[in-house]
Amino acid sequence: MQTLIPASSPIAAGSPEHKELLCSFFTDSHDPYRPDALNWPELDAAVIARLRALPIWGEAVRTEAETALAVLTMGAAEKDPVLSRAIALQGYEEQRHAEILKLLTAKYGIPVPAFSPAAPSDPSWAFMRIGYGECFDSFFAFGLFALARDSGFFPPSLVELFEPIMQEEGRHIIFHVNWVAYNQARLPYAGRPRYVFRRGLAMWLQALSRLKTAMRIKGEAESGQDNFTMNAHSQFGDVSPRAFVELCLRENERRLKPYDPRLLRPEFVPSIARAVLPTLPRRA
Ligand SMILES: [Fe+2]
Ligand SMILES: [Fe+2]
Repeated sequence: MQTLIPASSPIAAGSPEHKELLCSFFTDSHDPYRPDALNWPELDAAVIARLRALPIWGEAVRTEAETALAVLTMGAAEKDPVLSRAIALQGYEEQRHAEILKLLTAKYGIPVPAFSPAAPSDPSWAFMRIGYGECFDSFFAFGLFALARDSGFFPPSLVELFEPIMQEEGRHIIFHVNWVAYNQARLPYAGRPRYVFRRGLAMWLQALSRLKTAMRIKGEAESGQDNFTMNAHSQFGDVSPRAFVELCLRENERRLKPYDPRLLRPEFVPSIARAVLPTLPRRA
């Protein structure tokens, strides 16, 4: 599922060097911007209407708030101080995402239901599921963001504001696959099958939840409840399924490229995407 990228100085999963690299890559690439210092642009009424019509805000606000609390809980529960610091930093970044969404929805008058997340009872399991969820979501979000940027759906001023969030999700998924590999490699042989099973279960539960969301959106679109999905093609320009997946693959590679090549990259979703690519229609 994940493979070590060959490099001039390979690093063994589970080694102290792996942990050092995993944590230093994450803390060194942290961008210390503050949400309250962001300049929210004044947008045309038409752009605001397009933003309001996106069917994502409620779920995005809920997911970011839940993720922030779960990752912070994991950071506090982690016994290793170096890993704990890196995970807590990721929790802080997720909190910033939640804060940015709060500011954005308030600024442009986008209604979102009030929501207060609950801390997970098993922080390690929640952190693992979140990581796999982000591997699925980021792959498609990278492509969608590029489409929104290139088609002009998002004005450049908004693209600029969201760019750091996209890049942060790329760092999060690299952290995730390395954290999983590090923990797995450090287990005694007898403990590995259970971990591998938990890992597989976490991954498929997240895949299932994405499939359910996709089916719900499809159902809403077909019953006419979801105007965005019905109109997405005219908004984003005509993009065939194959061109979209190709774009996701390119963007995924571009976003993950800047980081140390000795770190693992998420391979599961891109490898499925590459496998199905020849079967996808070329026409929009
Ligand atoms: Fe996030
Ligand atoms: Fe994230």
